[in-house]
Formats: sequence, C-alpha cells, structure tokens
Amino acid sequence: MTSNDMLNKLVMVTGATGGIGKETARALQQMGAHVVIVGRNPQKTADVVAEMKSQNPSGGEVDGLVADLSSLADIRRLAEEFKQKYDRLDVLVNNAGAYFNKREISVDGFEMTFALNHLGYFYLTNLLLDLIKSSAPARIVNVSSGAHAMGKINFDNLNAKGLFVGWTAYGTSKLMNILFTRELSRRLEGTRVTVNALHPGFVATNFGHNGNGIGKWLIQLTQRSALTPEQGAQTSIYLASSPEVSGVSGAYFSESKIVQPSKAAQDDDLALRLWEVSEQLIAEREKTFA
Ligand SMILES: NC(=O)c1ccc[n+]([C@@H]2O[C@H](COP(=O)([O-])OP(=O)(O)OC[C@H]3O[C@@H](n4cnc5c(N)ncnc54)[C@H](OP(=O)(O)O)[C@@H]3O)[C@@H](O)[C@H]2O)c1
Repeated sequence: MTSNDMLNKLVMVTGATGGIGKETARALQQMGAHVVIVGRNPQKTADVVAEMKSQNPSGGEVDGLVADLSSLADIRRLAEEFKQKYDRLDVLVNNAGAYFNKREISVDGFEMTFALNHLGYFYLTNLLLDLIKSSAPARIVNVSSGAHAMGKINFDNLNAKGLFVGWTAYGTSKLMNILFTRELSRRLEGTRVTVNALHPGFVATNFGHNGNGIGKWLIQLTQRSALTPEQGAQTSIYLASSPEVSGVSGAYFSESKIVQPSKAAQDDDLALRLWEVSEQLIAEREKTFA
C-alpha cells in the first residue's frame, strides 16, 4: 500500500484517544484512509474524532467507537457494532495497552495486564478475522514492546497471583503480543492477510501515568528524553501502509526494520500453546467463541 493506496482503505486503531495510537490514526487519516478510532471514554473519543476531522478536513473519514478492551463482553459488542456498520476491514492496529503498577482484576476475573494487553488483541482480532480475510490484501499490526524481553509465561499463573511485579506482567504481555503475531501469521498463510508486531521506541505518552509512587515518577522523569508520540507512531504507520512490507508477515519490527525478538518470542511451541490456552480461557467465559 502506498499513501495513495490508503484511499478507500478502512482502518481500525485501538487506543487512539492518545499517545502512539492517536498519532497513528491521524497519519493514516491524512493518507486518505477511513479511520475508525476506538477509545474507552466516550467524550474523549468524540473529541479526538472532532479534532482529527477539523485538523485534516481533506483527509479520510473518521469515526469513533467506544469499548473497554479489558472486557470480553465489550470486545464482542465492539466487533458486532463494527460488523454492522462496515463491510470491510483493511488494517487493524492493535495498540491499546497499559502498564499496571498494582495487581488489578478485570471484569472477567483476569489480571488486567493480561486481559487488556494480550486477551484484548487476541479476542478482538479473532472476532474480526473473517471480515479482515474477506478484505484481503489486509494487514494486522500489533504494538508490542522491547520490554517483551523481560517477559516469562507461567501457564500455571497467568493471572499473576502472589507477588506482583508490574514490569514483569507488562513484559510478559508484550512477549504474548509477539507470540500471538507468529502463530496468527502461521494460521493466515495463503490468505493475503499479514500480521506483524513492533516496538515503537521509548515514547513520551500517558503510558505508566496511571500508577503512583516512585514507578510513575521514574517513568515521567525518563520520558523527558523519550520520542514524541508522532515519532513513536512511525513504525505502526509504516507497517499499516508501506508497500515495502506488503508481503511480510510474522515479523517483529523496530524503527521500521525487522529485528530479532528474544529467544522466547521465537518459540513456536510456546506461541501455539498460548493460542490454545487463550482460546480456552475465553471460551470458558464466552459462548460465542470456541
Ligand atoms: N510509550 C512507550 O514508551 C511504549 C513503549 C513500548 C510499547 N508501548 C505500547 O504502545 C501502545 C500505546 O501506548 P502509549 O504509549 O500510546 O500509551 P497511552 O498514551 O497511555 O495510550 C494508551 C491508549 O490505550 C487506551 N486504553 C487504555 N486502557 C484501555 C482499555 N481498558 N480499553 C480501551 N482502551 C484503553 C488509552 O485510552 P485513554 O485515552 O482513555 O487513557 C489510550 O488511548 C501500548 O500497547 C504500549 O504497551 C509504549
């Protein structure tokens, strides 16, 4: 896809009310794509839609949808709403994610980092996959992080019971993003749908500002030397739109180049197991997904 090719493309960007997601959505809309931004706060989502429309009146259309992506029911409702409103999806950017300083539990009983950062990507993508396949050539972009290298999956304790270390939970969820990307890429062979993961760099956004104490202070301090959200969005924009990667799938990118992720992130058995366990956990709570 070139910039011109983004005309008439339908794109969904999650977590697009701020930070990297907002800049990704903005750039793709400037290229002419019809962008559907997903936020969790109705007013903030409406404000970003209005802002994008007024800043780029000659860009593509912009719509907003609202969902809490840590909730399986909300994800299902979002996917249903999207399918009722639109008949294609050319690019899905899974971007909404967060770091949790303290252990929190989602409405479905999952630890929040796992629920939002992994199950959010996994479930939304799977619910939209038929539509994405029918729109091929199409792309899925998963925003991961270099923090994946700190991750370690314990299938006996996916909800991080006991001593909770926020950065370990976060790193593990970002490792899951890459493993999900690999296994999905394998399943999508021959469909002309690609899926890639990326590290956006260290970016000054609201990321980590939901915590408190020294962790929040340290993030804010180090963010002074970080990339701007616009700079941090570049690899997401590249993977969503560049013709250079039209046939590339299952890879992990940083600064718009393929890089090797950690050894664990290249473990295809681990990727398959994560897929099956995620599917099972969701199926136990959701009758629509098996
Ligand atoms: N910043 C970095 O240095 C960095 C580095 C590596 C990877 N990343 C990854 O980049 C992605 C974007 O992060 P960011 O830095 O742009 O952070 P951010 O500024 O905090 O933006 C996160 C976005 O996700 C949304 N969100 C949070 N919880 C949600 C929920 N439960 N349901 C739906 N949406 C939710 C936020 O909505 P609100 O506007 O309502 O808060 C916001 O739009 C994340 O996946 C993060 O892991 C960031």
